[in-house]
Formats: sequence, structure tokens, C-alpha cells
Amino acid sequence: MKRSRRSSLTLAKALKSEVRSPRLADAGRKKIAWAAREMPVLRMIAQRFERDKPLSGIRIAACLHVTAETANLVSVLKSGGAEVVLCASNPLSTQDDVAAAIAHDLKIPTFAIRGEDRKTYYRHLKLVLSTKPQVTMDDGADLVSLLHGAKKHLAKLIWGSSEETTTGVIRLRALHKQGKLLFPVVAVNDSKTKHLFDNRYGTGQSTIDGILRATNVLIAGKTFVISGYGYCGKGVAMRARGMGAQVVVCEVDAVRALEARMDGYEVMPMKSAARVGDIFVTVTGDINALDVEHFKLMKDGAIVANAGHFDVEINLAGLKKLSSEVRGIRPNVEEYRLKSGKKLHVLSEGRLVNLAAAEGHPSMVMDMSFANQALAAVFIAKNHATLKPQVYSVEAELDEEVARMKLKSLGISIDELSPRQRKYLSSWQQGT
Ligand code: ADE
Repeated sequence: MKRSRRSSLTLAKALKSEVRSPRLADAGRKKIAWAAREMPVLRMIAQRFERDKPLSGIRIAACLHVTAETANLVSVLKSGGAEVVLCASNPLSTQDDVAAAIAHDLKIPTFAIRGEDRKTYYRHLKLVLSTKPQVTMDDGADLVSLLHGAKKHLAKLIWGSSEETTTGVIRLRALHKQGKLLFPVVAVNDSKTKHLFDNRYGTGQSTIDGILRATNVLIAGKTFVISGYGYCGKGVAMRARGMGAQVVVCEVDAVRALEARMDGYEVMPMKSAARVGDIFVTVTGDINALDVEHFKLMKDGAIVANAGHFDVEINLAGLKKLSSEVRGIRPNVEEYRLKSGKKLHVLSEGRLVNLAAAEGHPSMVMDMSFANQALAAVFIAKNHATLKPQVYSVEAELDEEVARMKLKSLGISIDELSPRQRKYLSSWQQGT
């Protein structure tokens, strides 16, 4: 056991990073420091990790969006004693300067180049798995997916994995439901201190940010159609309304549709929304939320973007077939000229617009998401001998601890239950 750990550590160190250019490291370093200012919870965890080294000698392979916030997470994991290797979880989300700084300053082998092709993307994933990690960290479940496919022989070495995003958790639950999940996974996305903040306020703000950076269109007065009213959709709807848009929500879930209506939005099927929308955003986690039948109905000049994890939510192959020409007209904007003469504008090739055209969620919310990731890694390290191959949530006490640390960092104190109130809540006798 000891020998295999040592030889794999050497392997991780021997891996040579693949980033756009080491010369970008200086700019990346500044970005990472700027993000760190808004990540006090991660800072508190780092202090604890430096002291206790709860991840000592543990190999972690992380497949995350390579951003300034991720840099702060992998730095914390390293200060906890982990041997970390990192690759991108999306070909278009990498911040090249940050990748260079992670590789150069933090000395963490990093495999991430913005715009890398599919072949390179998967080669990078396989490279991080070649270090024979005990723990993997995913945003979208691509490492776990490989560990159940082409790299299945490595699955027996895995103590556990953690998953950042809704889409990834959906894939993992499907795997578990089929009885095929080979090791335990922690659904970080399910923590309240993750999805209530990252998905809602993070996706809400960064999606609008991506659309604005790509197009610079005025949101006020536009009809803004959102497909999917989970926490991400709720966030986007809230911010679009705040900027003066007329918001329309499309849903397949009756309860969520009702919620959207009572939150004050118009609710209708996409076939109706397609005729009236100026800007469309998909946040469903499913394929073809915008399909050929919808493109045919859209107005000339409509803008189409996706903020879900995978680039499957907009049927781009179908749109291409309808089109006579596709051309880039601004960074992150492609114009599809349909054979009918109508033009539709697709942002960031249908990949997550908040990370591809902007910088992803602000550090303030990633602080809590990544605190959950760091604590999930410790949970796996401590408990792997007794964990089963199933999908675990982060323990409620850890979730609460993250919230308390965040409140503390904000200088906010809250009330406490009195002994009498606590007793009342645990009793059933007293009525009116
Ligand atoms: N996912 C969404 N925003 C992100 C960010 N800023 N860093 C890493 N992952 C993210």
C-alpha cells in the first residue's frame, strides 16, 4: 500500500502541466488573490487544514472549471496535505492565466487550455486519472463517467468522489439507480449552502453577466425566456426581471411551473414562448430544451444561450441544418442565417454562457460551494472504509457549519433558541 502510494505521488509530480502559456501566470496570480478576498470561509478552512493536515498524502484528481475560485480551492486542498492534479471540466471555461498560475505558483499539475478540442479534453481527464487518485472531484461527473467506462480498472482504487453540479448529480443518481455505481459519491450540490446560493445568486448574476459581455444588449424591455425553473432558473429569472425584462418561464414540472407563476412570471410552453422571446436561456440539465420546432418559430434576431452544464440543451446540430450560413460576429456570438432568411444568434457555442463569456459565479458564493468540497474530501478520507457505493449528501452539521462561518465572516450574529423554546420544539403536548 505504502509503495503504491509513493510511486503514484511520483507520477503526479512527474506530470508536466499543459496550459496555454506560463507567461500568463502573473496575471493569473493577481486574479486568484482578488478572488481570495471574497472567500473567507475557505480561508478559515485553510488555517485548520494547515494545522491538522486532514488530507495528508491523499491523491485528489479534480475536474473543475479552471477559474480563480477553483485555484483557491485546490490551494486549500494542498495545504491540507493532499497531492492534487487538476483538469478542466469544460473546454470553454478555462481562464488561461489562472491555469498558468496554478501550475507555476501552486505547483499543481494542471491540464486546461481554453478552447481545447474534445480529444485534448478527454486526454487531459485521462492524464489526471493516471495518477491513480483515491479521491476525485467532479463538476459534471466526467471523471466518474470515465471510471465507469474506459478507465474502469482504476475504480477499485477510488475511496470516493464528490460532485459539484446539478447535472452531475442527476447522472450519478441514474448510475446508482441502475445498480452500477462502483464507489461512494458526495453530492455537494445538494448542500443548502451550495445550491441556495451558488445555483441561485451565482447562476443568476453570472448568466446575465455572460449575456451582457457577449452582446451588450439592453435587457430592459426585452422578453426574456427561461427554460427550467430549478434554483439556477430562479436566479436567472430574478436578475432578468431586476433589469427590466418581461420574464417568461417554461417548465415541465407542474409544481415548479406553479411556483414560477406565483413568483410573478408568465408561464407557457416553449412553442408559445419561442414566438415572443428576444433572449432565451436554457437551464434544464436536459437535451434539446430548444429544438428545431422552436427555432422555426423564433423572431428574427433572437439571442439564444445556455447556462446548463452541458452543451446539449440547445439542439445546435438541428439549427445548423436549418441554416445556410454560420459566422462569428463578435467574441462569443455566432450568427446562424436560416434558409428562410431569419437570423438567430447563439452565444458561446451553446456552452455555459456564464463561464464561457464571463468569469463564472462570483467568489462570494463559490466560497461556500468550495468549502463544501473541501469538507467533503475530508469526509471521504475519514469514512471511506465504511461508505457504500451510493450518493451521499454532505452531512447537515457540515452544511450548517459552512453557513455559520459565512455569517461570522460577514459580521452577522443571529438569535439562539432558549432552553424553553428548544423543549417546546421537541414536545407535542402543548396546543392552544
Ligand atoms: N462554476 C460556476 N462558477 C464557477 C467558478 N467561478 N469557479 C468554478 N466553478 C464554477
